[in-house]
Amino acid sequence: MDQNIKAELISEFKRVFGDEDGVRIFFAPGRVNLIGEHTDYNGGHVFPCALSLGTYAAVKKRNDKKIRLYSMNFEKDGVIEADASGDLINSPDYKWANYPLGIVQTFRKRGMPINSGFDILFYGTIPNGSGLSSSASIEVLTGYCLKELYGFDVTKQDLALIGQDSENNFNGMNCGIMDQFASAFGKAGHAIFLDTATLKYEYVPVDLKGIKIVISNTNVKHELTSSGYNDRRRESETALKDLQTVTSINALGELDEESFNKYSSAIKDEVCYRRARHAVTENLRTIEAVKALNAGELTTFGRLMNESHASLDKDYEVTCPELNIMAETEQSLEGVIGARMTGGGFGGCTVALVREEAVNSCIEKTKEVYTSKTGIVPAFYVVDIGDGPCEVV
Ligand code: GLA
Repeated sequence: MDQNIKAELISEFKRVFGDEDGVRIFFAPGRVNLIGEHTDYNGGHVFPCALSLGTYAAVKKRNDKKIRLYSMNFEKDGVIEADASGDLINSPDYKWANYPLGIVQTFRKRGMPINSGFDILFYGTIPNGSGLSSSASIEVLTGYCLKELYGFDVTKQDLALIGQDSENNFNGMNCGIMDQFASAFGKAGHAIFLDTATLKYEYVPVDLKGIKIVISNTNVKHELTSSGYNDRRRESETALKDLQTVTSINALGELDEESFNKYSSAIKDEVCYRRARHAVTENLRTIEAVKALNAGELTTFGRLMNESHASLDKDYEVTCPELNIMAETEQSLEGVIGARMTGGGFGGCTVALVREEAVNSCIEKTKEVYTSKTGIVPAFYVVDIGDGPCEVV
């Protein structure tokens, strides 16, 4: 698979940039989050894993200060050019290339300016707008390319933090650390149990004997995606400020259910109260889910996934009719252990754990119900948990 993609990338690189001599190929994965949604900017836990889907780059240093970028996914945009000799600023002219250029600028801001430009060609296998973190994968990938090409001394954690910094400050999306962390730290066969308050993490083997991870794409992406996301962040912060008038906590993730119930009357606004209730209960569900997985109690894990979806729907209000139809249909089917929306919400995908023998029937049935209720044809991916960034040799 990789070898075919490699040959195609090299020949495309030659076609676009003229000379493929010395070009190197790198890859960084997208992610799916199994449980722990909208907890990563609330000091809670998340439980994502890297996918074998992701973004590839063919890249080669130049002798001058030009940066030339091309994406096989956005052929119409052609070659985009920037100048590596000074600060880079987000620009509509850069289109999708604001993601990689944001990384170049963030390295520069952190005292790592590049001493020459480069030509880079991208090819992503993550469906656009699916909520499987194509942007985090391109950010981590670009950081990894810069590390390898220019010899910068950056750790995996740096790559994740640089990616988040660039997304927040160059691209204006106020995301947490989960997506970039999952891409940078990916490990085949394992999910990452990450405490976002401390960045301490643990690899948990996802030994799903006879069970598959099925991702179902609603194929909708609602307008609200980034404004709704930033609103939820603000509402969570307002709830935290109210709680801090009665208890000394730094983040909602520090509360258990008992202390939340004890102090929650300090939250003045009903909407903010529900946002906080989700952040607290989702964090507790994530901790419990990892315990259940370690103990081989998959039914408990599945129940917690279903509860997570309900909380994201009712308390956090980041689902949408399409996501609810998809998740609820899956939850009702024989052989499905649990199903929930995954990622930021307002469209995108659900993730479900499905018994191997039921995968085909589950996909067929879900497709039928979803299409008849929404008029939209969904897409399904039966995925493997993949590794973090690497050079494809
Ligand atoms: C998006 C963000 C993440 C995280 C999720 C919700 O994917 O990029 O940081 O907040 O939404 O869990």
